[in-house]
Amino acid sequence: MAATRQSGFDDPFYQPADQFFPANNKLGLTFDDITLATLYSEILPRDTQLDTQLAEGLHLNIPVISSDMDTVTESRMAIAMAANGGLGLIHYNMPERQQLSEVSRVKNHVHGLIQEPITVAPDQLIGDVLKMIEERKFAFGTFPVVDDKGKLVGLLSGHVVKPRYAKRKVADALTPRAQVHTIRQKELGKDPIAKADKFFTEHLGIHKLLVVDDQDKLRGLFTMSDIERIAQERNAQFKPARDAHFHLVCGAAVSATRNAFGELDRERILTHVGGLVERGVDVVAVSTAHGFSKGVGDTVKVLRDAFPKLPIIAGNVTSAAGVEYLADCGANAVKIGQGPGSICTTRIVAGVGIPQMTALYVSSRAAAKKKVAVLADGGITKSGDIIKALTLSQAVICGGIFAGCNEAPGDVIEIGGKLYKQYRGMGSLAAMKAGSAARYGQPVNPTQKVAAEGIEALKEACGSVDRVLAQLIGGIQSGMGYLGAANLAQLREKARYIRVSPAGMREAAPHDVVELKTGN
Ligand code: XMP
Repeated sequence: MAATRQSGFDDPFYQPADQFFPANNKLGLTFDDITLATLYSEILPRDTQLDTQLAEGLHLNIPVISSDMDTVTESRMAIAMAANGGLGLIHYNMPERQQLSEVSRVKNHVHGLIQEPITVAPDQLIGDVLKMIEERKFAFGTFPVVDDKGKLVGLLSGHVVKPRYAKRKVADALTPRAQVHTIRQKELGKDPIAKADKFFTEHLGIHKLLVVDDQDKLRGLFTMSDIERIAQERNAQFKPARDAHFHLVCGAAVSATRNAFGELDRERILTHVGGLVERGVDVVAVSTAHGFSKGVGDTVKVLRDAFPKLPIIAGNVTSAAGVEYLADCGANAVKIGQGPGSICTTRIVAGVGIPQMTALYVSSRAAAKKKVAVLADGGITKSGDIIKALTLSQAVICGGIFAGCNEAPGDVIEIGGKLYKQYRGMGSLAAMKAGSAARYGQPVNPTQKVAAEGIEALKEACGSVDRVLAQLIGGIQSGMGYLGAANLAQLREKARYIRVSPAGMREAAPHDVVELKTGN
């Protein structure tokens, strides 16, 4: 038993949170200021469970959320996060209508179903199709054929998309509608992948299944190779985060919008959130830099009254009093973090904010009392930071770690042979001009003087969210193995901390060697 593997010699050095943080109450501590002591373990990293409950009805399979920032989370990022078991918060630096459609895209996304397949028209020439494949660098050559109203006319098979047929019309080469395998959209049911999988098993040699609506308009396309890949993924340890109807989960940020008289614009907030709820949003985040404020509290109250069951995240705060206030207003989860973010200048500009581990400790104690979840927001640069944050929180929110991913909004920029993506603070001048000024309590009119609390930056392009998350999750599981924690509750319970000296910090990173990279 683990209890018999403890030694009293450790106790004065490696202390649990309720001893360690009060003993260090004169100093604000962040991730690199502390390290976690290892414990006797019978837990293998790969057997650890990472699921987390943020509110009733909001369960994630990994405790990682992508930030509601305009260079981090739109529908593509939110789909990738949820597909990996996490959550994306769609930012609000866009017209409300657009945010609604971003949420719809996530909620209607069927993993494995290509919802807007590339189509061709019957009167096109095969030569035109070849040109399109060449220009748009498609790796496939089979296309549904639709008329000008979107109705399915047939399927153009890759076997006939050849230069020798270049002068022939698509209409002469297509497999006619009657011979094309289709399924009605409404027959897809709760588990469309299982439906498609069964279809491909029963129909020898057929690799495409088209989805149509009652008017025979094309609504999507399944390919056998996608379905096979997903069937393999189903055995993966971390399943997609889904709602009760099997749709991916999705969050959206909202602001404490004010009217021309500076009063909370209740009607507009309710209409906006009503629209999000109609689209199936799983959680809204009332996101501001100063969550311990009347505007944010009142917004949460208005939403709680109107939508009693809707999970609400609110923030940001860094004090127990802030957590208690937002919990009393009706929030289910509170974002902790003021100024730790990689693009933040709040601490420099406004002189406020608390280093993240101290802020998390203080907040987590109030949160436990109020039965709300704590979300550690900002400042995370490596998986070791995540494991430290998770000793005091239910999930982490990351911006910079995901901003270089393919799924983040924005184009890749090449500079000196290296690839980058833009990443900016929501309090940077550029982002505030695009709409986020209210989040920082700054004038919304761009001609007025504003004080930026964030910078514009670049992140090195880092590939897919799948890849980045795989590395982070590997690190989290490894940390849990070292602490003998089978799940996140055990991690919170077992963690013991010690301060690290500057020399200890240097010792923690590779040192006195020239690093080689031969494994990439
Ligand atoms: P990371 O470290 O993951 O931080 O890049 C992302 C978090 O930073 C917050 N955020 C800001 N904070 N000024 C700030 O002081 C800003 O301009 C700004 N923009 C984002 C936000 O909480 C985000 O999740």
